[in-house]
Amino acid sequence: MGSSSHLQRPSGPNRTVSASSFAEAFSIARRNLEDEISHELPVTSSELPSPALSSSDAPSTPALSASNLTTPASLVTPLTEAQTPSLVDSGYDDNIADNFAFAFDIDGVLVRGGRPIPEAIEAMKVLNGENEYGVRVPYIFLTNGGGKTEEERCEDLSKQLELTVSPGQFICGHTPMRELADKYTGSVLVVGGEGEKCRSVAEQYGFKDVITPGDIIKANAATAPFRKLTDLEHTNSRDLLERHGVEKLSDIVIEAIFVFADSRDWASDLQIILDIAMSKGGRLETRSETFEEGPPIYFSHSDVVWSAAHEHVRLGMGALRRIVETVFTDVTGGKKLETHAFGKPQVSTFEFATRLLQQWRTTQHGLVAARRPLDTVYFVGDTPESDIRGTNAMDAKSKHTSWYSVLVKTGVYEDGTEPAYKPRVLVETVLDAVNHGIEREMRRRRAKQSQRDAKNQGGLMQKLANITVQDMS
Ligand code: G3P
Ligand code: MG
Repeated sequence: MGSSSHLQRPSGPNRTVSASSFAEAFSIARRNLEDEISHELPVTSSELPSPALSSSDAPSTPALSASNLTTPASLVTPLTEAQTPSLVDSGYDDNIADNFAFAFDIDGVLVRGGRPIPEAIEAMKVLNGENEYGVRVPYIFLTNGGGKTEEERCEDLSKQLELTVSPGQFICGHTPMRELADKYTGSVLVVGGEGEKCRSVAEQYGFKDVITPGDIIKANAATAPFRKLTDLEHTNSRDLLERHGVEKLSDIVIEAIFVFADSRDWASDLQIILDIAMSKGGRLETRSETFEEGPPIYFSHSDVVWSAAHEHVRLGMGALRRIVETVFTDVTGGKKLETHAFGKPQVSTFEFATRLLQQWRTTQHGLVAARRPLDTVYFVGDTPESDIRGTNAMDAKSKHTSWYSVLVKTGVYEDGTEPAYKPRVLVETVLDAVNHGIEREMRRRRAKQSQRDAKNQGGLMQKLANITVQDMS
């Protein structure tokens, strides 16, 4: 890599921001997403074609009726407006990359089977200034994974990557579901994850009555004939009749089903999701005559496979989603079930990421978009169907910021195959991705500088020519 005259090594440590600022940053960004989502619905199964069946490039999110969700006008302020101008005047640092940033997928890019991909640690160091330009580059994380609170996920990632990751720079698959807590204020079924973790996440999001498959099995062990709750599961599972003050399960109505994280017991979860999908208006233990009155079903993403410790990809939540839809048709004599999915590749997820990134640039680095526009976001992913598809769709939609897709070979994508969605560039590892982006930006800066120099030179020559003319007259 060559050198750049206007970029110097950082003279001091990174700006530190208090935990409350991070929380505030996240909260503001989230509220902006809430506003955004308040005008959009997640894509339904019928609207998002199967990647294997379609080469269509732009997943879209249809409009959500304004009556479903409301967001106070005061929360609508776009993040692109200067919110902390003093930071720019007092704190802006020349060593910060002011017009580009990175966003990272996690599984298959930074982590695999709970362990860091070795190059990931080095890549983070490069982003934090250990590069020959001494430039520090803002970055965020955007994963379809979940199953824990955002704070817990950040703690895990901090240990894995040997640096501090803040919730202000982190989005997981179920993050947008918190928006729906205002809409479904009664009982909801939350599926997936370890033990009680997803119930806790959902309650933290504001859902008021969170029921799990364990609660239903505890109330009626015949629900899942081959499933026996462990003692711990039995203790943690709630007594539904007592809690709801009713005598029969059919008095309890499930308003919506949320699959927060990967199922730990596909058979029982499938049975319970289908039971409720076929129920009379969400009433437990009932059967509809039409099979058309079940509650909505939301998945936090639709990845059919993902990259874990095994050498071959593993089945993910998207596979369960397909099974739910297919088996529903089988057991109802041909009825169609439409479910909804958040996460990548939905463009709304990438739009949320843009807002979070803008907020992060402002609070962490003093970069206000109105003065320091974000020209390019390098998105590094391993799954063409979600990471590359979503990045390219976002790029096509985005007016001001270019989203540049980088595919790595450390995860779902198999080297030597044709990716279902083409990235701008294919590299070996996340470290190569980071080096590629920084180098590309430095080349662009040098080209711009040369253009400016040439222009100045031209201006000078013109002035000299004018002086000569004046001398002769
Ligand atoms: O379950 C998580 C997986 O489907 C994808 O995670 O980080 O690759 O988006 P990620
Ligand atoms: Mg991945």
